[in-house]
Amino acid sequence: MKITVLTLFPEFFDSFQATSIIKRALDNHLVTFETVNYRDYTLDKHHKVDDTPCGGGQGMVLMCQPIVDCLRAVKSEDSLVVMLTPQGTTFQQKTAQEFSKKEHLILLCGHYEGFDERIRDYIDMEISIGDFVLTGGEGAAMVVADAVIRLLDGVIQEESHQDDSFANGLLEYPQYTRPIVYEGKAVPDVLLSGHHANIRRWRLKESLRRTMQKRPDLLKERIFTKEEHALMEEMKHEK
Ligand code: ADE
Repeated sequence: MKITVLTLFPEFFDSFQATSIIKRALDNHLVTFETVNYRDYTLDKHHKVDDTPCGGGQGMVLMCQPIVDCLRAVKSEDSLVVMLTPQGTTFQQKTAQEFSKKEHLILLCGHYEGFDERIRDYIDMEISIGDFVLTGGEGAAMVVADAVIRLLDGVIQEESHQDDSFANGLLEYPQYTRPIVYEGKAVPDVLLSGHHANIRRWRLKESLRRTMQKRPDLLKERIFTKEEHALMEEMKHEK
C-alpha cells in the first residue's frame, strides 16, 4: 500500500516516518509513504497557495489551482482521495480497516481557514478525527496514517489488533504485567492460572463490563452472542 500526504508542511511528518513501528514498517517496505507539497504546483513566482475569502472575513483560503494540480499529479485509478477537515465523517476503527485494504490512499491536509469549496468536487470523501478544530489537517493525517499502517500485514502481530479496542465493537479488556502485586494491588488470579479458556472468558467479560461502563453507546446496536448474553447475566447477579 502507498500513502501520499498532500500538505504545505511536509516536515511535520519527519519524526512520524523516523520513529518506532512506522519506521520499521517503512524500512521493511510494508508501506510506501510520501509527502507532496502543494506549493510545488503553484504557477506564480511567489508560489502563492492561498488567498483572501470572497465576501470578506478573517484568514486565508487554499486556492483551487495548486491543490487540484497537485492532486492530479499524484492520483491514479487506484487512489482513494480523502480530505481532512473538521466537517468530515468521524474517523473510526472500521474506517481504518477499510482504508488499509486500498492500494493508494491520498490524504489532503488543509491549513489556514480551509479549502476553496470547489475542491470538494475532486475528492472521494471527507474525514474528521473528532469534534474539535486543529490548526491544519497534518495532525489528523498522521492519526489516520498511523491507524491504517498498524493494520497492514506484517506491521504488528495480527493477534494484537484482533484484540484492539473497537476491533470487535468492544473496548479492550484490562491488561497487567509484573510485578504480581504492586502497592497492594494484585493481578487477577485467573490471568496467572494458565487456563486459556478461562482467561479468554474473563477477558470477554471484562471487555463487556468496560464497554458498558465507559462507552454504552457502542452496545446499542450490538447483536450479542449466546456467550456474551450469559456473561452479561452473570455480571447482573454480581451487583
Ligand atoms: N483539520 C482541522 N481540524 C480537523 C479535524 N478535527 N479533523 C480532521 N482535519 C482537521
